[in-house]
Amino acid sequence: MDPRLVILSRGSRLYSTKRLVEEAEKAGWAVRIIDPLSLTVVIDDRGGRIFHRGWPVECEAVIPRIGYSITRRGVAIVRQFEHMGIPVLNTADGITRSRDKLVAGQLLSDEGVPVPITAHVGGWEDTNRAISRVGGTPCVIKSSEGTHGSGVFLAHTDQHARQLVFQMIERDMRPLVQEYIGESHGRDVRALVVGGKVVAAMRRVAAGSEFRSNFHLGGSVETVEITPKLAQIAVNAAKILELDIAGVDLLESQRGPLVLEVNSSPGLEGIEKASRVNVAGAVANFLNEKLQAIEAEKNQFDSESSLSSAGDFTHAF
Ligand SMILES: Nc1ncnc2c1ncn2[C@@H]1O[C@H](COP(=O)(O)OP(=O)(O)O)[C@@H](O)[C@H]1O
Ligand SMILES: [Mg+2]
Repeated sequence: MDPRLVILSRGSRLYSTKRLVEEAEKAGWAVRIIDPLSLTVVIDDRGGRIFHRGWPVECEAVIPRIGYSITRRGVAIVRQFEHMGIPVLNTADGITRSRDKLVAGQLLSDEGVPVPITAHVGGWEDTNRAISRVGGTPCVIKSSEGTHGSGVFLAHTDQHARQLVFQMIERDMRPLVQEYIGESHGRDVRALVVGGKVVAAMRRVAAGSEFRSNFHLGGSVETVEITPKLAQIAVNAAKILELDIAGVDLLESQRGPLVLEVNSSPGLEGIEKASRVNVAGAVANFLNEKLQAIEAEKNQFDSESSLSSAGDFTHAF
């Protein structure tokens, strides 16, 4: 029987989901797409179960594609699959670590990965001090949890920065004041890391005078030759956040590359088109390697336990 793969996704027609299905099927997997919000989780003293429309979900691997708006519920489902001993790309912890820009920044800088100077401001009265700490205005004000560039602003004056921080605190958001990397205005490099290797890279370029290079804000993609240094930083970042699949965004600053953020469900469309690399195929290959490693370990364990029981038998006599 073919090994079974569950892709947790709310959009079966999305490019990334379709490509993952296509390549995993080519690599010999029987693939099912399930909306994570339609699953029922049972916690019990035997590792728990997951049900879908009354039937237990059984599979040999899971790829979660958990959108930002359903992070908490999605992560709980992923954690349950992990409890049941099923390999997941990525783990609940990996997803959680990467989703929060403050947490990810702390973990990365703790391990020596270069990141932009960033301050989390708890009270807006401290905004001025935070601005000087990051080198003055212009500076970037962003929400600690956000995506598609929607919670990211370039503040040209201290007053504007204070206003933005104040508004975010009022809305119960956690604002970050960040050093603006002007030399990288509207440009960044995304490295796609799969199983500890950079498999593809692209440059993202913002539309017009926009400083955010997000695809959702009209940004375009270009080919880029990634340097070994950039590749090493990207691989380290994915490893520190414990991500098997990661889209690592890097800014090229005067003092070297800086990791801006790490995405645990990176989109595949832009990167496959820009790099002409079969990224979904690389993910499917990595799944196969993982499955083989698990089977080899199981076989070794089985033969060791039969050897030791034979030993016990001999010993008993
Ligand atoms: N400190 C910064 N200096 C220069 N450009 C930045 C900085 N922070 C963000 N940007 C630009 O804004 C984009 C979105 O910021 P990011 O932190 O990745 O938020 P999101 O999670 O919403 O994508 C980045 O891809 C980059 O182009
Ligand atoms: Mg981003």
